[in-house]
Amino acid sequence: MRVLSGIQPTGRFHWGNYFGAIRQYIDLQSADAAYYFIANLHALTTVRDAAALKQYTLDAAIDLLALGLDPNQAVLFVQSDVPEVSELMWLLLTGAPMGLLERCVAYKEKKEKGLPAAAGLFTYPVLMAADILAYDADTVPVGQDQIQHIEVCRDLAGSFNHLFGETFVLPKGKVLDDSAKVPGTDGEKMSKSYNNTLEVFEDPKQQRKKIMRITTDSRPMEEPKQPDTDPLYQLFSLVATDAERAEMAALYLRGGFGYGEVKKALADAAERFFGPARARRADLAADEPRIREILADGAARARRQASDVLRRAKAACGLQ
Ligand code: ADP
Ligand code: TRP
Repeated sequence: MRVLSGIQPTGRFHWGNYFGAIRQYIDLQSADAAYYFIANLHALTTVRDAAALKQYTLDAAIDLLALGLDPNQAVLFVQSDVPEVSELMWLLLTGAPMGLLERCVAYKEKKEKGLPAAAGLFTYPVLMAADILAYDADTVPVGQDQIQHIEVCRDLAGSFNHLFGETFVLPKGKVLDDSAKVPGTDGEKMSKSYNNTLEVFEDPKQQRKKIMRITTDSRPMEEPKQPDTDPLYQLFSLVATDAERAEMAALYLRGGFGYGEVKKALADAAERFFGPARARRADLAADEPRIREILADGAARARRQASDVLRRAKAACGLQ
């Protein structure tokens, strides 16, 4: 299995990113090959502040390493360090049907709202296809919202292969575990755009305050409650041990507790859960040259693979 995925550096990672994506990338890093990159070229379609993009990119690398991404197992790199991908994108663009891209939701939604859309947003799925094809990836773990882009990738690769001969490996999307849909502090899906996030490496005191402000229902304390449908319990169960989870579930079913206690238990469990990663992060952040070295080594390994595929594709379509 050759695994590849990218994650956009559009801000600091939140629990949804960790439990919904990053944790699963890390579980897959022992595959035959695993390529994980920080998709700064994609982020450039939304982050239009140079200093912020640079900082988010470095932070993303440090965060991923602190959370357990092992550069000896997976190739970790920054998307823009592999220029072969942008060249490959052109080859794919020449055969990309307008209609196919017009149906892609990110662009379509903007268009329907009457908002101006840049060509970069329109061709975003083609860059993503180049990302995937450049490494002969066969398995692409992504959230459900990205499955459409994997289909575009398969379409583009399939028609290139049909016209110019077998060149690209057709990848399969691997939908990330949806049961890990993490609720935000307002009970809706946690998302940067809803301003309801708990960040993975947020200052613990600040995070505790945020947790204490989580919206809860106003039913009397005496009433027993169903744990599984309660967002506070759902958050707790992500960071608690099995024993703590069982104890909390029993407390819910028995009733007679206050949400304040649950919030306090949640903040404590979160500190314990992310504590070791937080300590690793502090060490990594203090050694920026080491991070740069890891990324440079990742980029060199990624470029070796991508230039092979690019050479193959150029030869196939008459450019070489
Ligand atoms: P955001 O814009 O909130 O940072 P993204 O859409 O960039 O989120 O998400 C990156 C990845 O993180 C997605 O592939 C998705 O699988 C995962 N993810 C984001 N939010 C959640 C959530 N609330 N629950 C589960 N997974 C999530
Ligand atoms: N578009 C993806 C997202 O927003 C990030 C991404 C870019 C990606 N290139 C990729 C994911 C290639 C998988 C494969 O989440």
